[in-house]
Amino acid sequence: MEYETPLFFHVMQYAARADRDVVGMVSGNPDWEPPEALRDGLREYADLDSDRFQYPPSEGIRPLREEIAARRGVDAAQVIVTNGAGEANYLAMARAIERDRGREILLTDPVYPYYPGKTSMLGGSQSFVAANESGQLDPAVIRDAASEETAAIVVNSPNNPTGAVYPEATMEQLVAIAEEYDAILISDEVYDHFDLSGQFASALAVDSDHRIVTNAFSKSMAITGFRVGYAIFPPDLVADAKSRHMLVNVAGSRPAQYAVLQALREAGPDYYERNRELLADRVEQFTTALDAAGAEYTTPQGSFYVLARFEGYPGTLDNVERLIDEAGVAGMPGEAFGDSRREWLRFALVTPRVAAAADRLTAYFS
Ligand SMILES: Cc1ncc(COP(=O)(O)O)c(C=O)c1O
Repeated sequence: MEYETPLFFHVMQYAARADRDVVGMVSGNPDWEPPEALRDGLREYADLDSDRFQYPPSEGIRPLREEIAARRGVDAAQVIVTNGAGEANYLAMARAIERDRGREILLTDPVYPYYPGKTSMLGGSQSFVAANESGQLDPAVIRDAASEETAAIVVNSPNNPTGAVYPEATMEQLVAIAEEYDAILISDEVYDHFDLSGQFASALAVDSDHRIVTNAFSKSMAITGFRVGYAIFPPDLVADAKSRHMLVNVAGSRPAQYAVLQALREAGPDYYERNRELLADRVEQFTTALDAAGAEYTTPQGSFYVLARFEGYPGTLDNVERLIDEAGVAGMPGEAFGDSRREWLRFALVTPRVAAAADRLTAYFS
């Protein structure tokens, strides 16, 4: 087994070493504040008895699992609190492969690069189904690609990197395809609070034993460093997922779970709305500049990312490095996300310097 270091580490390091000022638009770390209640929760935690500094229940502290379950309309027994959405996806893919109904994981192209990485690590095989130009999936194409070998179909909405948000009809059909082939639909919904289109539909809306929903507070509460996420499993798959989670991690971070619980209880809809509005303004600012630079791009319906293509400037790693050195803007090469967007660059709009980046790109490409 060969492990590949994700390309984004390389780009971040290259940008950090650059001999000039660079606007970083590589990774998806929100630059806005977490809910105030999260900071209060952390402060409170520091003064608790030291027995609260010891192992929490492996599957997560009970009140957090109950709060998540109540919000998502599932039984708390189905919820495992994980080390971010990253671990939730890993557990979900592992359980799908362990069912011994096949080893193939169906992925989309473009793809969030950690999915193929996890597939290889788990000994699965991967097949890719192309999204259309706006990033939408055609369930008929996925049905054609599925077979008895399919262990799981992994989708992500709102999507990284395309910004697509799949409508309810797509989610319903994806669950139906998983049922038809006795496979599992894994729906990664980590950007659910960043739906700018009003079209977001959770896979939880369709009751089925053939879907696992993964999520995290990393993006929604601007705390990618806390490592608190969760997976919602069908009842018959959850016990072994808890064992795997325990064997790999022992447990998650107790103070982080405590603070997230406080924030979940106290942050109102206005917190999430404010961040969506900030993001929508940045999308407007950035895409206006892309128009001025004569670029082709996808306007995101959700998530943090814009894919753009500049005439005569394919999104290779070399060109990403050139853009860092010559324009002072760091994006991600399209080749990191599969074959279909090799010509494109991905820019993450999670920096207060979106306007500066936009100006630099306009000046560089005009
Ligand atoms: C689609 C997708 N899933 C999962 C993750 C990882 O989330 P977490 O930091 O909660 O592990 C990311 C992070 O960028 C992502 O874009």
